[in-house]
Amino acid sequence: MPPANVAGDMLDQQLATVTATIRDMARSGIREVMDAAWQVPGAIILAVGEPNFPTPAHIIDAADAAARAGKTGYVSNAGIFELREALAAKVCSRNGYDVGADEVVVTSGGVEGLFAALSALLDPGDGILLPDPGWPNFVMMAQMLRARIRAYPVVPANDFLPTVPDLERLCDDGTKVLLLNSPSNPLGAVIDRERMHEIAAFAAARGLWIVSDECYDATLFDERFVSAAAVAGLERTISIYTFSKTYAMTGWRVGYVTAPPRVIEQIAKLQEPLISCVNAPAQYAALAALTGPQDVVAQMNAAYRERRDEVCRRLAAAGVPALPPSGAFYVWADVRASGMPSRDFAFALLRERGVAIAPGTAFGPGGEGFARISLATEPAALYEGIDRIIAALAGAPP
Ligand SMILES: Cc1ncc(COP(=O)(O)O)c(C=O)c1O
Repeated sequence: MPPANVAGDMLDQQLATVTATIRDMARSGIREVMDAAWQVPGAIILAVGEPNFPTPAHIIDAADAAARAGKTGYVSNAGIFELREALAAKVCSRNGYDVGADEVVVTSGGVEGLFAALSALLDPGDGILLPDPGWPNFVMMAQMLRARIRAYPVVPANDFLPTVPDLERLCDDGTKVLLLNSPSNPLGAVIDRERMHEIAAFAAARGLWIVSDECYDATLFDERFVSAAAVAGLERTISIYTFSKTYAMTGWRVGYVTAPPRVIEQIAKLQEPLISCVNAPAQYAALAALTGPQDVVAQMNAAYRERRDEVCRRLAAAGVPALPPSGAFYVWADVRASGMPSRDFAFALLRERGVAIAPGTAFGPGGEGFARISLATEPAALYEGIDRIIAALAGAPP
């Protein structure tokens, strides 16, 4: 092994060959906590957004059957037609707007769908409005595309929702995309119909594209949710969905995008250099998820709801302000009582009490003072973790 200083020089040289765009991209603050959490034996992990349920058996069986039937080759860039047809039907019935199978592209999770959508819309220097706090991958993608990022605040005073005056203030002539995320990660906030109408009118007046991340569209705790395209129309709206959260299929990597014909064609074309196509057996699994029994979704949602209610009850009883989510499976809690910046609090909590949470600042500067607690954790560990957070905020000795 080379001495440390030589190894350091070699690393610097290698980094110098990496593009400035990628080198300068910030690392995910959630990953940073997770890397530390994996070093703490027995840590209670409330920092990740991954369902703690196994993929339902009938979905796994469908992938197995497809693979055994020889459906193991490349398939169309846009996805297998049966799945695209089923997705179009799902969007019509559950998201409330009409698309044909040819306006749907199957993607490698929501994340690749988002990247393909943004790649299709943004040239370097084009402006994009992103939520702060927001899912960190939005910023990373915009940075990769060398877009100009304008962060719009989603703050308690506005029920954690985007407001048109804020969007107006941040929008300029070079702004092309408004990214919405409802239900939101990390806030669990849902844009209601009235606010969506206001936002859609603003986007239309300014000629913006709406890119609507609706990856949590099936994890809902009240009636507020409305799809952006159902209000704004499909003409200038691209919507992104995933099987990851709804059907506990994070590792299968199946998502999908809907967009108007001239854009969906470009997104399908983009699949070729990005991924060529989504894993074929996983697409048959997704088809079985969509067309099979939906009680599995209802059961998972009932579990998240129970955990949400219990977590919010415990936090409220302890006087810890928290936003009860309208959707997704996160609770956004105010950790200012710790007297520490939220990143320091997250690391102290892990070190002293063995609980990993995502610091609010992992989601942007607007997250300072807050932390995201994932409900996608087995209840006994979740409630024990909440009690330890409460004790830490109350300054009880560890
Ligand atoms: C807001 C949001 N969008 C999209 C995704 C993408 O998930 P996947 O790529 O697994 O479909 C996630 C995953 O955490 C998310 O939180």
